[in-house]
Amino acid sequence: NHDKLALPVGTTLDRFIMRKQEDFPYATGELSQLLRDIALAAKIVNREINRSGLIDIAGAYGNRNVQGEDQQKLDVIANIRFIRALRNGGEVCTIISEEDDEMIQTGNVQGKYVVAIDPLDGSSNIDVNVSIGTIFSIYRRVSPSGTEGTRQDCLQTGTHQVAAGYVIYGSSTMLVYTTGNGVNGFTYEPSLGEFFLSHPNIQTPKSGTIYSVNEGVSESFSEGMKGFVAFCKDQNYSARYIGSLVADFHRNLLKGGIYMYPTSRKAPNGKLRLMYECNPLAFIVEQAGGKSSNGRRRTLEIEPHDLHERCPLFIGSPDMVDKVEEFLAAEF
Ligand code: AHG
Ligand code: MN
Ligand code: MN
Ligand code: MN
Repeated sequence: NHDKLALPVGTTLDRFIMRKQEDFPYATGELSQLLRDIALAAKIVNREINRSGLIDIAGAYGNRNVQGEDQQKLDVIANIRFIRALRNGGEVCTIISEEDDEMIQTGNVQGKYVVAIDPLDGSSNIDVNVSIGTIFSIYRRVSPSGTEGTRQDCLQTGTHQVAAGYVIYGSSTMLVYTTGNGVNGFTYEPSLGEFFLSHPNIQTPKSGTIYSVNEGVSESFSEGMKGFVAFCKDQNYSARYIGSLVADFHRNLLKGGIYMYPTSRKAPNGKLRLMYECNPLAFIVEQAGGKSSNGRRRTLEIEPHDLHERCPLFIGSPDMVDKVEEFLAAEF
């Protein structure tokens, strides 16, 4: 019947943020404003991604980032857009980004928050029209207000996040985030320029039948990893690997499954970055009833030492993360 298809009209992101703010009597609205600033940048980046085949922003930018990766033009454009929105919004004093070697000072020395961001995740998929994303993580600064943010502000453990989320620029564009009270998903309606609540209180299935890992490097997997992948095949699980962490994560969050980026010869600490890929998704998945670890330790408790440090990632349905940890533990 039609009313199932009706948009939950009235529950726009703005209204949702306002209503949630009422849950925090002492909230003074800065975090709400910061979330709005991120949503604004997401709308702008979404429009540029949708046009990237038409205007000259596809392809490589011609620079290498601190990760040693060839920056794509949209990596750089998304980075500029999110930094500008956070700077102009006034709530953020300092940003760390995948695309910048050093901390970025916004000049908002009164800003209470620090943001870690992967402005465009899945860069290798930009020019071939496969889903890509943005991942962000928000901390309250620990250094005194009125000064520039410090490394200490930027290198807090994942358990100190006050909010985390991602945008997935896919068949539809969605914003999924948590402020520590569950996970909610909003779908973007471009003709109205609004995000509407479409996936309230997301809970990930306890187990699943999807495993996501790049088996192209399976020769260099540890014995434990090889054992778990063989187990997945015995169970007739489906192998699904898009090569965009946000897209793989989002599918597994809704359907159940596990995403793995293990250590390998090519990537002795894995490839994914703790501060703006692993921690934000770990916060989200735990809020949705899932689990995230580096194979042995809870992701959110890993002590960060470097802005761009990498760590292995095993994330998704709790029973599946437990299972792969069993296989990995058996090898020691
Ligand atoms: P980014 O594009 O932000 O650098 O991240 C790419 C990551 C992640 O999105 C994806 O899951 C992974 O790289 C794919 O890596 P492989 O090509 O090594 O599988
Ligand atoms: Mn990424
Ligand atoms: Mn990226
Ligand atoms: Mn990259």
